[in-house]
Amino acid sequence: MRVGFIGTGEIAAAMVEGLSGRGHELIISERNAEIAAGLAGRFSDVQVKSNAEVVAGSDVVFLCLMAGVARDVLGALPWRSDQAVISVMVDVPLADLAVLCAPASDIALTIPLSSVATGASVLPCHPDSDALRALFGESDTIIAVPTEAGLNAHFAASALSAPLLNLMQTGAQWLGEQTGDPNGAEIYVAGVFAGFLRQMSLQGADFEQLLNGLATEGGLNATLKQQMADAGAPDALREGLEGLKGRLKL
Ligand SMILES: NC(=O)c1ccc[n+]([C@@H]2O[C@H](COP(=O)([O-])OP(=O)(O)OC[C@H]3O[C@@H](n4cnc5c(N)ncnc54)[C@H](OP(=O)(O)O)[C@@H]3O)[C@@H](O)[C@H]2O)c1
Repeated sequence: MRVGFIGTGEIAAAMVEGLSGRGHELIISERNAEIAAGLAGRFSDVQVKSNAEVVAGSDVVFLCLMAGVARDVLGALPWRSDQAVISVMVDVPLADLAVLCAPASDIALTIPLSSVATGASVLPCHPDSDALRALFGESDTIIAVPTEAGLNAHFAASALSAPLLNLMQTGAQWLGEQTGDPNGAEIYVAGVFAGFLRQMSLQGADFEQLLNGLATEGGLNATLKQQMADAGAPDALREGLEGLKGRLKL
């Protein structure tokens, strides 16, 4: 497939890395110039072209711009009705994309994270997209979300990433201070959570089951969990998610 990317930044680079070597022609836009040159240097199936050439030469186009830029540039590009468009952008609803990318009408929203570079990531999408499934269905898990509001709620949930990684980093830093081995501390903390997540995917365990397994009364886990609850951490997280609802029109 000829797969184009408008906006060559963080998330486009991760998708290009994930798709490279799988028999596609990957056509990326010139900005950011340094990232584009880096990708073209690393992967022989990547070409760098202008925005208009990306659209003209692609069967599927990923939109990876910031919302304000998208509103300025997309309308002038040579869209066709026979191509699929997949936006990864927050704050640009499908109705706006239908106008900006007309006459293309096979338009979907998805939410890749940087782990799409290595596969086994989760890609919620709305509406369901044959193009997204054809490109990532074998390497990643596609979750079709029935409504656009539901997809936007996944955008909010994707923002759990930074605060939860930050908590893990804080724990790893603390461990490193005790052991004098910060690298080993990161490996340990990451490994603990990788193990739980593997258990969830391989054994179908859910969060409740894992928490029950850690709930021994007076145990270290129960003690720390209670202390964080008393300090308001879960409430702060829920409040933060609620705070995103206005922007995401939920
Ligand atoms: N990062 C994530 O984990 C993530 C996850 C899910 C969704 N998203 C969404 O992905 C979109 C991009 O995010 P990002 O983190 O990848 O941001 P980013 O790294 O800033 O990428 C945006 C890219 O757009 C380029 N650009 C600016 N003006 C352009 C133009 N006129 N034509 C072509 N390209 C232009 C920028 O180039 P310059 O550097 O030269 O300005 C930059 O490379 C956002 O809408 C965000 O909501 C991001």
